[in-house]
Amino acid sequence: MSNITIFGAGNIGSAVADIAVKSGATVQVIDRNADKAAAAADGVTGAIFGEAAITGDIVVLALPFPAYDEAIAAYADQFAGKTVVDVSNPIDFSTFDLALPEGAKSAAEYVAAKLPQSHVVKAFNTTFAATLATGENDGAPTVVQLAADDEAAKKSVAAFIEAAGLKTVDAGALKRAQYLEGYGALQIILGVTNQTPWTAGFKVVK
Ligand SMILES: NC(=O)c1ccc[n+]([C@@H]2O[C@H](COP(=O)([O-])OP(=O)(O)OC[C@H]3O[C@@H](n4cnc5c(N)ncnc54)[C@H](OP(=O)(O)O)[C@@H]3O)[C@@H](O)[C@H]2O)c1
Repeated sequence: MSNITIFGAGNIGSAVADIAVKSGATVQVIDRNADKAAAAADGVTGAIFGEAAITGDIVVLALPFPAYDEAIAAYADQFAGKTVVDVSNPIDFSTFDLALPEGAKSAAEYVAAKLPQSHVVKAFNTTFAATLATGENDGAPTVVQLAADDEAAKKSVAAFIEAAGLKTVDAGALKRAQYLEGYGALQIILGVTNQTPWTAGFKVVK
């Protein structure tokens, strides 16, 4: 059985926490607000950001990308040896352009450079929170797209997602996060311009 830690008890953090519980994992949710962390999903253990130690082997960063540096700094060495999941769509919401630190090609590769002792997996950024929460997109199981350089890490993330009844596709190496992040940005643009519903967005058919 997996041990999964999720940073953030917002829309994605709560949805991923529920998926993780449904997969049979032991789930810790870390948030600045302990009550919000504990309420993220039935069956999770809530903990306070900056105080609690990470208990999971898989660590999901369900935070806005600008908060990643703070989490990485606060938990520094605790990420070593872990599978770290980057869910972010690093967007400047005033322009809807991708907003990455100088020199970074994707958020996922930025995280991997910051955490060289971790295995970074890009996941969950191309699925709106609603389709993760229901596990369904337009009548079919929600399909989560993954990218990572470490095959075992990628498989461990796919395994917990699929154990909860959703599906996954493998986009390849971590550098494919560059495409996933463009895809995620486009999906948001279509949502904010009311051309597609937040309850669906892009649907991958398997
Ligand atoms: N929403 C979607 O449909 C969707 C889809 C795909 C990917 N994503 C990505 O998922 C990530 C989370 O999005 P969301 O929609 O779940 O956001 P959200 O609902 O606003 O939740 C964000 C969470 O991050 C926490 N947080 C914010 N700043 C923090 C900081 N400096 N230090 C520690 N914790 C901090 C918040 O805690 P507090 O409650 O204490 O503020 C909250 O629990 C983002 O990277 C987003 O791009 C979202």
